[in-house]
Amino acid sequence: MKKRYALVTGGAGFIGSHTADALAKKGYKVKILDNLSPPVHTGRWPNYVLQKGFELIRGDVREKKMWEKALRGASCVYHLAAYQDQRLDFSTFFTTNTVSTALLYETIVERRFPVKKVVLASSQFVYGDGVYRCAHSESMFYPELRALIELKRKKWDILCPHGRPARSIPFREDQDVMPTNSYGLSKQALENCAMRLGKTYGIPTTAFRYSIVQGPRQSPRNLYSGALRIFVSQALAKVPITVYEDGMQTRDFVNIRDVVRANLLALTNRKTDFGIFNVGGGSAYRVLDFAKLVKKITASPSPIAIGAFRRTDTRHAVSDISKLKRLGWRPQHASAEAIRDYVRWFTEEGFDKRVDRRGLTALKKGIA
Ligand SMILES: NC(=O)c1ccc[n+]([C@@H]2O[C@H](COP(=O)([O-])OP(=O)(O)OC[C@H]3O[C@@H](n4cnc5c(N)ncnc54)[C@H](O)[C@@H]3O)[C@@H](O)[C@H]2O)c1
Repeated sequence: MKKRYALVTGGAGFIGSHTADALAKKGYKVKILDNLSPPVHTGRWPNYVLQKGFELIRGDVREKKMWEKALRGASCVYHLAAYQDQRLDFSTFFTTNTVSTALLYETIVERRFPVKKVVLASSQFVYGDGVYRCAHSESMFYPELRALIELKRKKWDILCPHGRPARSIPFREDQDVMPTNSYGLSKQALENCAMRLGKTYGIPTTAFRYSIVQGPRQSPRNLYSGALRIFVSQALAKVPITVYEDGMQTRDFVNIRDVVRANLLALTNRKTDFGIFNVGGGSAYRVLDFAKLVKKITASPSPIAIGAFRRTDTRHAVSDISKLKRLGWRPQHASAEAIRDYVRWFTEEGFDKRVDRRGLTALKKGIA
């Protein structure tokens, strides 16, 4: 029987490479389109994608000719390549994340490529701070980005418009989205673009809003990879573990194995077609507790230092995953497991020889 091709953009990266492995196990021939962009890569294909029989195409998703080459023969596409982080070249988020998505559909439609499914990586970041409920009046509101002056005064919590305490509600797919940065905005635009074009041209499409994904191959050079990379690097170097704000902010963390299962479910379950789904860990973690867990697992003597902050960070970011759970998916792997896997990989790759200084510098300056 002729083998089916799956195209994975960003397949040299963290989520893409694990997804490529899983697709190969399912019997797909895998093509990877990736430009090996720094700082995640150092100009060469990482070992974990070599000698796997994948077709490796080095190219940029912002170039239509690369899509024309990569899409040939593909029956499904995972568009995971992205520009990430909080950076000042705002337009690059839109060219890499959103314009590339338009180019993907443009090429499929123009060339009449018989693609049966497109799966795209969106992000929990589209929600921004999400929705809050006032503890006194029970009224709901969408908060604005916290003011710099308040953060400098170490006033971290979001208050209702009447200045009263407010509680964050877990993010649901049907609520309004309010991204706080260019990355989130470009992902919101990517979703709109993909859903509209997918429906108009009959190309089944699914977008996943991943929470913070954790596991091996998450590049330590990627600023975006956040808490796990920074905490592990600091814990192994025995320097202070730097936790932003007071550590009481909450996040949900999802294990890469669970993300890969969600990615594959999109291929077989037609109820995912033209749907947007949260893919999260299912429980809220205080960042301080997460730092303590890293400290415990690495048996590190590092103290935990709080107080510095980042300008556009959200206070709480926890996704409601009931929509995807209704399709039979649920997270099966705990955070502690992802931390152990990551520490093992991090050490094997020799990343423990360098300390991540950014958190320590932020601690001195107060702001990252
Ligand atoms: N890791 C997370 O916690 C997380 C959370 C939410 C959403 N996401 C999304 O999931 C996807 C995968 O993230 P990841 O963590 O694997 O990131 P990653 O940085 O490990 O992988 C991204 C890959 O995309 C490639 N790439 C970047 N720009 C490109 C371009 N212009 N052309 C071709 N390739 C390009 C990079 O070289 C890299 O290999 C991204 O779309 C990201 O926005 C990730």
